This record gives sequence, structure tokens and C-alpha cells, in this order.
Amino acid sequence: MAHLAIESVSLRYDDGPQVLGGVSLDLRDGEFLVVVGRSGCGKTSLLNLAAGFVPPTTGRVAVNGVAITGPGADRAVVFQDDALFPWLSTAENVALGPRLSGIGKAERRRIAENQLAIVGLEGLADRPIWRLSGGQRQRVGLARALAARPTFLLMDEPLGALDAMTREAMQELLVEVWAKSGAGVLLITHGVEEALFLATRIVVMAPNPGRIVKTLNVDFSRRRLAGESARSIKSSRDFVAMREALLDAIFEREAA
Ligand SMILES: Nc1ncnc2c1ncn2[C@@H]1O[C@H](COP(=O)(O)OP(=O)(O)OP(=O)(O)O)[C@@H](O)[C@H]1O
Ligand SMILES: [Mg+2]
Repeated sequence: MAHLAIESVSLRYDDGPQVLGGVSLDLRDGEFLVVVGRSGCGKTSLLNLAAGFVPPTTGRVAVNGVAITGPGADRAVVFQDDALFPWLSTAENVALGPRLSGIGKAERRRIAENQLAIVGLEGLADRPIWRLSGGQRQRVGLARALAARPTFLLMDEPLGALDAMTREAMQELLVEVWAKSGAGVLLITHGVEEALFLATRIVVMAPNPGRIVKTLNVDFSRRRLAGESARSIKSSRDFVAMREALLDAIFEREAA
């Protein structure tokens, strides 16, 4: 079983204040871990540590017990802005990882077409990026991350720039893709309903210094996979109660 461990990590950028203090967090394959918390509490910093973009000031980040020293193909990242290359076609963007690892053209094309089908973009392989909508670009970003067959998929507000309806459709897609891929997902969002709908576990962070103040186990995504509709889930009594509990935790309100 694959295991990404953030172990008693603290973080300071240069001479600045302490951004994270004593954070420990585990992610295993097959889990969908969602991080929420107010702006500036250190969510992106935590994801950057897990990705290996920044080293912890103290503590360590390890995969299967071995400390990481930088980014790796086992941990794919999806950013809020799609970060695609406009001079490459849709298929070439998706197969960028395979290209960098020296895989030939025909095989790259096959990988790209497979991944595009998984995210619902079959037939668009030869489109230039500038002829795709925002939601389609975000799917290309997801397909590109999946093309590397990562053990862990790290996503920083991947749906943040989308309109409400596209966002809901993408949430359903993420649940499906997560279930099919078996990857361990770490996703950051500002959407409380989004967190509840996607996660198997939610951690709430608070600022100064950034730390984890609450953990909730959730099973709404499993209900979705078992066939219950998103509408029925989001209007259910359990969902509404959890939403209030989560809002209380984020804004440190006393529970009524
Ligand atoms: N590269 C950096 N250099 C210096 N300080 C940074 C850097 N990146 C983030 N910070 C600071 O670290 C703190 C946490 O930032 P971070 O981006 O992790 O928060 P966040 O929870 O992701 O916020 P948001 O919800 O607004 O995206 C902030 O005070 C921010 O100004
Ligand atoms: Mg952020």
C-alpha cells in the first residue's frame, strides 16, 4: 500500500513568519483527502511540500518511508490555472510526461486518446488549446496528470476558476476518475459542499501558524459511486448537518 507521510512538518519561507507549525498528515492510495481552511492558512504550502517543490524547515515528507528530495513522477500536480502549453495540441499536452520519459509518438498518441476518453474529451485530441473552453482545459490538465499514472494526485483548487454548473459536472468526474485510478488524492478547495461531496476524509486548517484543527471522515463520494444522485446526496439531512459542522470548524464558531 502506497503511503505519503507529512511528519511533524514546520515551514518558514526565508526569514518570514512560521507558515506551518507541527503538521502531520498521512495519505494512502485509494483515499480522497480534502484540505479546507481560510485564505492564507497554508494549504498551498502544504501541497507544495507534498509535491516536493519546497523542503520543510523541520520535519520530513516521506513516500513509503523514504524521505522525498524533490518532485517525482509518483506525485502528479494539477494547478488552479490549467498551466497548459498553447503551442501544443490537446493530445500533445496530455502526453507531455510520456514524451519527457522518451516514449515514442504512436504510443504517446494512444496514451493521450485513452486519457482524453476518461475525462470525457474523446475526439478533441487535435484541437489547439486555445479552442477549448475553461472547463475543457481543466480536464486536459487532469488527463495530463493521469497520463503519468501517478500514485498520488495533488490538486490545488482545480475547479476554482469554473462556473457553477461546469464545476458540479467536474466534481462528478473527479469522483469517477479517482475511483478508477485508485490514486491517493489530496485536493484543496474553498468549496465546503465540494469538500463534502468529494472527500473520504476532510482536514480543516487554521492559520498563524498553519495547523490542522479538525479531521472528519466522510462517505458521500462512496454513496455517489453506489448510484445515489448528486442532488439527493447534497440535499440529504446528513450532508446538511456535516456542512454546518464543517463551516463551524473553518470559522471557529462554537457549535450550537
Ligand atoms: N513563496 C513564498 N514566499 C514567502 N511567503 C509565502 C510564499 N508562499 C506563501 N507564503 C505565505 O505563506 C502563508 C500561507 O500561504 P499559502 O499560499 O500556503 O496559503 P493558502 O491557505 O493556500 O491561501 P489561499 O486560500 O489564499 O490560497 C501566507 O501568509 C503567504 O503570504
Ligand atoms: Mg492556496
